[in-house]
Amino acid sequence: MVITKLLLFVACVCIRFTAGHEFFSSTDQVMQLVEEERTLLRLFSGYIIKLIKRLRFEWLAIVESTQESLYKDFQELLYSDELKIPLKRDLEGAALGLIRLQEMYKLFPENITRGEMSKRLSVWKKLTMMGFIAYEEDKFQHAFHWFLYSLKKFNHPESLSSIRSVTKKDLLKYLGSSAYHFGSLHVAIYFYQQLLNLDPTDEDVKYELMLVRKRRLYTSSNPDIFTLNMTSSTVTPMRHSAGERLNRGRQRALSCRYSTGGGNPRLILAPLKEEVEWDEPRIVRYHDIISDKEIEILKNLSRPHLSRSQIGLGTVSNIRSSQSVFLKEGNIVVVRVNQRIADATGLSMETAEPLHVQNYGTGGSYEPHYDARDDQNERIATFLIYMSDVEIGGATVFPKVGVALQPKKGSAVFWYNLHKNGDVDLRTMHAGCPVLMGNKWVANKWIHEFGQEFTRPCSLSELE
Ligand SMILES: *[C@@H]1O[C@H](CO)[C@@H](O)[C@H](O)[C@H]1NC(C)=O
Ligand SMILES: *[C@@H]1O[C@H](CO)[C@@H](O)[C@H](O)[C@H]1NC(C)=O
Ligand SMILES: *[C@@H]1O[C@H](CO)[C@@H](O)[C@H](O)[C@H]1NC(C)=O
Repeated sequence: MVITKLLLFVACVCIRFTAGHEFFSSTDQVMQLVEEERTLLRLFSGYIIKLIKRLRFEWLAIVESTQESLYKDFQELLYSDELKIPLKRDLEGAALGLIRLQEMYKLFPENITRGEMSKRLSVWKKLTMMGFIAYEEDKFQHAFHWFLYSLKKFNHPESLSSIRSVTKKDLLKYLGSSAYHFGSLHVAIYFYQQLLNLDPTDEDVKYELMLVRKRRLYTSSNPDIFTLNMTSSTVTPMRHSAGERLNRGRQRALSCRYSTGGGNPRLILAPLKEEVEWDEPRIVRYHDIISDKEIEILKNLSRPHLSRSQIGLGTVSNIRSSQSVFLKEGNIVVVRVNQRIADATGLSMETAEPLHVQNYGTGGSYEPHYDARDDQNERIATFLIYMSDVEIGGATVFPKVGVALQPKKGSAVFWYNLHKNGDVDLRTMHAGCPVLMGNKWVANKWIHEFGQEFTRPCSLSELE
């Protein structure tokens, strides 16, 4: 019932697009949007400029404006496959990403919309939309806080003019319902009572109120809806920051040095800047392993192929947090990068997987996992190249050992996933922290066992 209402509320987009691009799962595509937005502006600046104040949170306005538009050219442009206007689900994806960040970093709407962001989110409708999306995803606490924030803005005279689709009554209803679903019954009662004050004859509200009161008689738990809990997700910020602290402490003791890869002739002329990030398991960072120009080319090669990260066959990941592509081996830069990885690690690239390029979106994260899979020809080692800096968030964390590796453009980190006896090194479980701010690009090279017999001999020892 509620879902239907919600759908009615947000289903204001009826433009058919043939090209479905998911902008929220790739910040890079958001960047490209800026360009396309400029084209639009040039053509119809007078008409739509007031609608396009900010990029991300004004998408809905852009799409809505197209429905009102009578300009033929404008329509043609919109229906063309080349122009990638974000879809409603892109907007919802961005909103979900934001909610995921809130869970991860314990953020209230106030924390996100303050300052610069408050301008972007200033349109009250978007605030309620955040609430509805959180509500639909059963994230009732965050839904509650977004609705509460909307209600505060609602009382603000400025916002009155922009209110169309949602009434104060609707807001109170959703506040009551969110609190009820969260289990905070006294708060639910408070809001239903407010509703009843608005309209003492409303039978539906009376009934709801009766239900909540009844439930309270039988329920002892009463969680505090105003206190944000740590996310149940596996990488907790606590662990993350502890890792960072620990890591900084350790880094001081571990030295930086130049490496020639054990006398590799290619490296004697151009030694690698190698830094030991962690000793057990050994994680090494190579600085300036790839130039900005090369990064640019790898990104350019990847862009046309970026597709949603998929889990399993044919099913699209529900947590749409990144887009990725395996790059073909033919390109000269790809060959050069592969050679450099071989030189740095001393391992053979013969059986390695193609370079895997990944771009994360806002809130983009990667759940804890092992790179090694249960496989005959196992992923013996991982070479992870950072192709961008990330302003906030986006660290690669090893929760079992408390290491947090910060993305640094042009650098790469390397570790073995297997012990020398072939067993998976359980300490190498790692995860990508959510990107709070920035555009995270990485390239993975997964190196396999076969072909490494001479460079990394096997051991029968239990301890290696
Ligand atoms: C976030 O907002 C809440 C509520 O306004 C406030 O109490 C808290 O201090 C803010 N936290 C940060 C980190 O700004
Ligand atoms: C929040 O965390 C506290 C302490 O960890 C726990 O007792 C409480 O049940 C949690 N509340 C919810 C709603 O998850
Ligand atoms: C990458 O693509 C952009 C846009 O197509 C282009 O301007 C740029 O020159 C390309 N960079 C390289 C290094 O090829």
